[in-house]
Amino acid sequence: MGVSPGFRTHRHRKAGVNALRLIGFIFVKGLLSLMAAMEKIVSLCKRRGFLFQSSEIYGGLQGFWDYGPLGVELKRNLKDAWWRDMCSGHNEMVQPAGAPSTFDMVGLDSTIIMHPQIWKCSGHYDMFHDYMVDCRESKKRYRHDQLRGRWVSHPDATATAKIFVTTMAEADEEQAEIQHRALKYFKLRPKDAESLVYDGPSTTLDTVDEFSIVLGPDAKTLGTLTEPREFNLMFKTTIGALGGEEDYAFLRPETAQGIFVNFKNVLDSSRISVPFGIAQVGKSFRNEITPRNFTFRSREFEQMEIEFFCHPNSSQDWYRYWRDRRLAWYQTLGLSRESLLMREHAAEELAHYSVGTADIEYAFPFLPKGEYGELEGIAHRGDFDLRSHMEGKLDPSTRPMVVELDEFGKPRHRGSGRDLTYRDDITGERFTPHVIEPSAGADRGALAFLCEAYHEDEAPDENGKLQTRVVMKLHPRLAPIKAAVFPLVKKDGMPELAQEIYAELKRDLAVFYDEKGAVGRRYRRQDEAGTPYCITVDTESLTTKTVTIRDRDTLEQTRVKIDELAAELKRRISS
Ligand code: GAP
Repeated sequence: MGVSPGFRTHRHRKAGVNALRLIGFIFVKGLLSLMAAMEKIVSLCKRRGFLFQSSEIYGGLQGFWDYGPLGVELKRNLKDAWWRDMCSGHNEMVQPAGAPSTFDMVGLDSTIIMHPQIWKCSGHYDMFHDYMVDCRESKKRYRHDQLRGRWVSHPDATATAKIFVTTMAEADEEQAEIQHRALKYFKLRPKDAESLVYDGPSTTLDTVDEFSIVLGPDAKTLGTLTEPREFNLMFKTTIGALGGEEDYAFLRPETAQGIFVNFKNVLDSSRISVPFGIAQVGKSFRNEITPRNFTFRSREFEQMEIEFFCHPNSSQDWYRYWRDRRLAWYQTLGLSRESLLMREHAAEELAHYSVGTADIEYAFPFLPKGEYGELEGIAHRGDFDLRSHMEGKLDPSTRPMVVELDEFGKPRHRGSGRDLTYRDDITGERFTPHVIEPSAGADRGALAFLCEAYHEDEAPDENGKLQTRVVMKLHPRLAPIKAAVFPLVKKDGMPELAQEIYAELKRDLAVFYDEKGAVGRRYRRQDEAGTPYCITVDTESLTTKTVTIRDRDTLEQTRVKIDELAAELKRRISS
């Protein structure tokens, strides 16, 4: 598929991963430990109530995930941190480091279902698709750019000499599965595995031209896969009781369009001027053909998007500002620089009006070593969106872009006809603002922070014996519980004092009270939940009115006055 108009296609988003996947052979041993790490994270998420499969008691629903008691707090904290750092906490009178000038930021909450014409003008109706192939034998459907396989031959084979054996197995099981399927196809036994001849490393089906020699992932015979076909990713629904073709609508596949169509409303109702950004957090829906890798590719997910409107002449500077600022943001909340990658799109990947698009990618543990998955995209969208909503869907292949026409010479998709240009009050200049779009996924963000947080180390138990401990080193701003309050023992007035402290702290902070079991075990539970601080009320507390604060990461215990506890915790959380 060619260059997309206002959004990045799945193909583009996968390009980084695919390019890297092709480099060299898979290092199975390293991968095994990576997958083991992912399995441990997935298991902890379920055990401790971060994430559950949607509709689990009915067998689950692929591509849909529920956030449990800890998960909902983590994701809410992430979205709140984003909203505060990008929008509500922004000071329009101060020029941030690296920004070309001061700027305004405001928020928006638009609907999930919008006028269907919006998706026609945005380009999603015509171009928001993946290519998929169907298997005539298994009746299953696969994504053309995600189905992986290897060229394999066998010297004694009488029929086709070389075939492309595909598999849907996860990366760590891919080679074993390909070998198993190739042996079966050539009617060989496991002991003959050495005689198989591989031509090149594993690669995706979209590198293969000849489908008649492809063995589909669930097929026994060759050549059962159809040629790739377009599959639109938008979920369709109907409005009202009649439900005819006239009443169809779509669940939004991105929050961005809600911002573009409200550009004028926001401008006219707030006393802001270009440059300014509109931020929005909300659900988006994509009927992904192959949702996989835990929450990474879901069918229902949340986005945190900014559409930043600026003068065309300064748009390159704003693009660079947002790209660098967004990368730095992930680091301030705890993602290490080594696990992040800033991938600038190559010139041929860009829409022609765009001066740049960059993806911030993260080394998710389910990916082979050296591969990264997209966390956020920062795109320069030019004036495509505002003009398309004014004039009608533009043809992205024209320069300068003109409205796409149908066979009768009429606009293929009519715009709103509203004036979405901007007039600068000082210079009197009228122009269509250019847009820089930092578009992040809240679920992918939460997953990256969970992966980064997972650690295993050793800590002494209540008998002083070193034991392996699982600890989620979440940044205190993201941690679902900020502090847990424990009485050392359940007697001598300790529970009463601990409950008083708990009630006091609970007014401002997400805190947890626990008096059950050995204190060492209570610490462990909080370590797994990612709670940064544990407050213990002991014998000394009763006389000196002090408590200990145990730091999750350093295991250091410091004694503080109960009167100063709340302030001390807030200081630690915000630092
Ligand atoms: N408005 C531009 C836009 O939507 P995108 O690259 O398609 O761009 C932006 O999506 C972000 O949304 C991605 O970087 C990712 O974090 C998140 N995202 C996209 N599709 C997703 C999916 N199927 N599951 C989870 N997150 C997804």
